Amino acid sequence: MEKIAIRPYKLDDAQAIVEIINYNILNSTALYDYHPRTQAQQQAIFEDKLSKDFPVIVATIDDKVIGFGYYSEFRFREAYRFTVEHSVYVANDYHGKGIGKLLLTELIALAKQQKLHTMVAVIDSENQSSVAFHEQFGFTTVGIIKESGYKFDRWLHSVIMQLILE
Ligand SMILES: CC(C)(COP(=O)(O)OP(=O)(O)OC[C@H]1O[C@@H](n2cnc3c(N)ncnc32)[C@H](O)[C@@H]1OP(=O)(O)O)[C@@H](O)C(=O)NCCC(=O)NCCS
Repeated sequence: MEKIAIRPYKLDDAQAIVEIINYNILNSTALYDYHPRTQAQQQAIFEDKLSKDFPVIVATIDDKVIGFGYYSEFRFREAYRFTVEHSVYVANDYHGKGIGKLLLTELIALAKQQKLHTMVAVIDSENQSSVAFHEQFGFTTVGIIKESGYKFDRWLHSVIMQLILE
């Protein structure tokens, strides 16, 4: 019987996470990176977020990390301090099993606990499953930045989705 759990990220999780990230970097427009990341690079990215008291969480099935999520600054000027940008990723073989829903539910709860005001997702326009996923949580599309990315020899458009927290 598979048991899905959500818990805070630990340093040891970075290898499984970087595999999920690198799969998406190489095969999708979900990430706008061109080059795979190393485990050490990913650990440093998360250490920076954790040092600023932002959450990084993972989803596990029978202790195997199969998804993760986090949020951190949307932009850096002081007035943006109640706004965060988040990301959720689930390993390809585990899509559509409710794991993303568990991760985003937890991130929204944490953002409310931290008295944040709004969450922003920046989603590639080709990634309609992520747009539909966010709509389930009440996120709405508030803008599209056209031709803001260039990958796989084509222009990419960034969809900005927002949820105002109660
Ligand atoms: C987007 C993503 C995080 C969703 O996670 P998931 O675990 O597959 O999604 P869930 O099973 O929790 O689905 C939750 C809801 O989202 C919606 N949804 C998810 N995938 C969908 C799809 N492919 N098409 C339409 N709706 C979808 C559904 O409404 C679903 O609710 P339901 O099952 O009650 O109908 C996951 O597909 C993923 O990691 N994709 C690759 C990376 C990525 O794009 N991350 C987001 C970057 S912004």
